[in-house]
Amino acid sequence: LVLILDFGSQYTHLITRRIRALSVFSLCISGTSPLKAITDLNPRVIILSGGPHSVHAPDAPVFCDGFIEYVEKNGIHVLGICYGLQLIVQKLGGLVKIGEKQEYGKMNIEVISENSSFFGNWIKGDKQDVWMSHGDEVSKLPDGFKVVAVSQQGAVAAIENPSRKFYGLQYHPEVTHSPQGIKTLRYFLFDVCGINADWNMEDVLNEEIKVIKETVGTDDHVICALSGGVDSTVAATLVHRAIGDRLHCIFVDNGLLRYKEQERVMSTFKEHLHLPVTCVDATEQFLSKMKGVADPETKRKIIGKEFICIFDEFAQELEKKLGKKPVYLVQGTLYPDVIESCPPPGSGRNHSHTIKSHHNVGGLPKDMKLKLIEPLKLLFKDEVRALGKILDIPEGFLKRHPFPGPGLAVRVLGDVTEGNHLEILRQVDEIFIQSIKDAGLYDEIWQAFAVFLGILSVGVQGDQRTHSHVVSLRAVTSQDGMTADWYRFDSEFLDQVSRKITNNVRGVNRVTLDITSKPPSTIEWE
Ligand code: XMP
Repeated sequence: LVLILDFGSQYTHLITRRIRALSVFSLCISGTSPLKAITDLNPRVIILSGGPHSVHAPDAPVFCDGFIEYVEKNGIHVLGICYGLQLIVQKLGGLVKIGEKQEYGKMNIEVISENSSFFGNWIKGDKQDVWMSHGDEVSKLPDGFKVVAVSQQGAVAAIENPSRKFYGLQYHPEVTHSPQGIKTLRYFLFDVCGINADWNMEDVLNEEIKVIKETVGTDDHVICALSGGVDSTVAATLVHRAIGDRLHCIFVDNGLLRYKEQERVMSTFKEHLHLPVTCVDATEQFLSKMKGVADPETKRKIIGKEFICIFDEFAQELEKKLGKKPVYLVQGTLYPDVIESCPPPGSGRNHSHTIKSHHNVGGLPKDMKLKLIEPLKLLFKDEVRALGKILDIPEGFLKRHPFPGPGLAVRVLGDVTEGNHLEILRQVDEIFIQSIKDAGLYDEIWQAFAVFLGILSVGVQGDQRTHSHVVSLRAVTSQDGMTADWYRFDSEFLDQVSRKITNNVRGVNRVTLDITSKPPSTIEWE
């Protein structure tokens, strides 16, 4: 295991991902975690991440007491990146000062050491471009360390003390702007630390199946709420592989789904994946509760509550049928949701759920006392997709854009039950998404959808004055949904989509495009 201690850099998760891409298992925990959290994981290598602080700041995060003694006693290699390097220097008796010239962005560095074990076969005089982002710099090295490379401005760029197994890079090898960065990390892990590249998705799958079999035992039953999204589908398929039809899934049609969604996902669940799924059509139940409700938060809360009622009924009926209570609940929680990190103050990281009360289908009713099975909780989204591929989930399904738990309720502004607003939105959305797929753009976009604005505009269609609905189209690129940029379609594409919508969807005479990033907007409109 390669353990990353996070000191708040925006690139920390990228380090974890880069290392996993080298087929080495890697986890990230807060840089200030207690020693026990580190020793329990028994890492072979520890990487100290970068961070926005100065090591001199009063609130600067620091690794726990006893860290240095622990790594030295156990022969663990330690690599400090940026802030991590400065922490090593400061804690081992060197000096870090405010840099005379700060270094942000692309820099050229030069290897100045005759025979550095860190840079392997690099030779003195070699140069490379790297990505720097630091204000402080090393002014005096701790005893036993040597400078391996310096920046074009003369600042320390790489240091090492091979006998104590401490290494440091002032730049960020994990970002693509450091073109040699991955090579350097690879050399460090395999040649310097002697790690094996032995982590792969087949092993993850087999290990998960083994753990689930052991955990669940031979008679217990497990339930799972399928949302139609990638995560819950992969999680359920994996659990199904482990325990067969002692898994019981529910898919709820709340009347707020997209065009033909129920048909489409149920056919994948049943015909392709052979999952035991009960489809509950609760359209009436949901929509009757939503009548007259226009406030976005109230809409979300009603949907969350109603879902839990249905889920509860499902569990009770199952209990009657089986003669015993189901014991476990499967959830498709991913690593970014559980990751414990060290966000810089005021950074807004790790607070994605405070802006809107997110309702994830499958949310755990508090009094159900089910134990959780979260087979994906150490995986990133792309790893979940890779796992889904091994589980034979169709590629098209694995690449689906995210869809919010409250569904179209957050895309029809105001009262969703009014007129045929939901139906109009479904048709517009289907045309937009199908056009994106036909143009081969679907995989470039994080999420695309239409929004029903609930306002009327004047138009002229077939020589007639119309007073009809306005819709907006939204498509964004994003890494994780926390920030997003609007997708730049070409104007020809937009022109065609707009015509298709107004020609085919009765009741719409105006199409607009949302060109706002997140922040200041959110991805959804409500
Ligand atoms: P926002 O609108 O907050 O959305 O920028 C960020 C991402 O989260 C999705 N989203 C939700 N997902 N339940 C969910 O499961 C929700 O209540 C919810 N609200 C927003 C949104 O589609 C985007 O991918």
